[in-house]
Amino acid sequence: MTVTLVPPPAPLPTRTAPPSRPLDVLGVPGQTNLDHAASAPCARAAADAVAELLPWYASVHRGAGALSRRCTLAYERARQTVGDFFGARPGDHVVFTRNTTDALNLLARALPAGTTVVTFAGEHHANLLPWPRGSVRLPVPASPAEAVRALDAALTELRRDATPGTAGAGRSAGPPVLVAVTGASNVTGERWPVAELAAVARRHAARIAVDAAQLAPHAPVDVAALGVDYLAVSGHKLYAPFGAGVLLGRGDWLDAAPPYLAGGGATSHVGDATHEVRWADGPARHEAGTPNLLGAVALAAVCAALADADRDELHAREQALLARLRRGLAGLPHVVELRTFGPDAPRVGIVSFVVAGRDSAEMAAELAARHDVGVRDGLFCAHPLARRLLAEAAARSGRTDLPPTALRASLGLGSTAGDVDRLLAALAELG
Ligand SMILES: Cc1ncc(COP(=O)(O)O)c(C=O)c1O
Repeated sequence: MTVTLVPPPAPLPTRTAPPSRPLDVLGVPGQTNLDHAASAPCARAAADAVAELLPWYASVHRGAGALSRRCTLAYERARQTVGDFFGARPGDHVVFTRNTTDALNLLARALPAGTTVVTFAGEHHANLLPWPRGSVRLPVPASPAEAVRALDAALTELRRDATPGTAGAGRSAGPPVLVAVTGASNVTGERWPVAELAAVARRHAARIAVDAAQLAPHAPVDVAALGVDYLAVSGHKLYAPFGAGVLLGRGDWLDAAPPYLAGGGATSHVGDATHEVRWADGPARHEAGTPNLLGAVALAAVCAALADADRDELHAREQALLARLRRGLAGLPHVVELRTFGPDAPRVGIVSFVVAGRDSAEMAAELAARHDVGVRDGLFCAHPLARRLLAEAAARSGRTDLPPTALRASLGLGSTAGDVDRLLAALAELG
């Protein structure tokens, strides 16, 4: 076997041939991908950034060679770019993880002892299951305003019940409280009132973490502007398909916590005795092991491309497609949409629905086999919410033949009116 050494391209930061349309996405002609909420396709920006770095591919933070130094630089630049994109403040850490699930599990492990976590039952499992026993799960609210009221009431009660005088790691005396909410639902696409919930949390000296896995691909998210303490995102939902995610947020809890993983890269000193170890501060503390360089660089490239893009225009385009999709679904007599809030609540480009009298898994399989349309089916890793919304859909529609699981169509960069129409035509035929 021969190994070809590819001559490396020009050093960073010069890009000899900047892509003209960095937010184009890769795909396969003839396949209609309406499953962006699960994993988005690869953006040209991500593919180009990876291709440019691949010849230099070497260790990160572990080598003195030119290749390794360049990779270390690229990794740390990616951290900076991602932090800037999400509005990181001085003192925030940007920790690269595998995905949102990993990011929220890391945060769960970093909570100061005695922290109470408050969530809503409408969360994705990634934002329901990592939290410690004793967490408070509020019922799914009927509107964004009710979410704000319910949180206010819950935090008032928690603070009243707290032992007076307990020193906490929060911003005031009292046991720490973390509110953990989604930015946009992966089931309905409905947006949650993040800034208002953050204001309530602040008033009660609680911190707030936002699961932005579904919001960040569709709308600008700035932790400083929103008043959010922690943010979790997945690169593979943000057009960077290389398995990197991010936990961004306040450094103090993260620096005080035991490392998420123990191992190389997370230490500043290891002595001869078994447990003689000083852990690093900063993101490195929670990034033991060789990091996902390509994932971080791909994600940063998409963040940079989105930062340069006209987000209002992207939003308007997606909303027009979403309206077309929802109008079309509403026109199909056998289709019932799932929703938590009112029909006009703000949403990102995600719609879940059921086809009365038809099994959702079978429908998804037929859409793929007969129409080359990819959608998701099931309960979308949000079982409590999906079950509730299916029951609500049955009550609203008065139908007794709704299936026990749903279908989900989700839009993103590269989605077209043709994609939407293809799904609608297929549903009309199969339903
Ligand atoms: C709202 C939300 N949070 C968290 C996750 C988990 O993301 P990941 O599987 O990338 O960890 C998802 C994935 O679908 C999601 O939609």
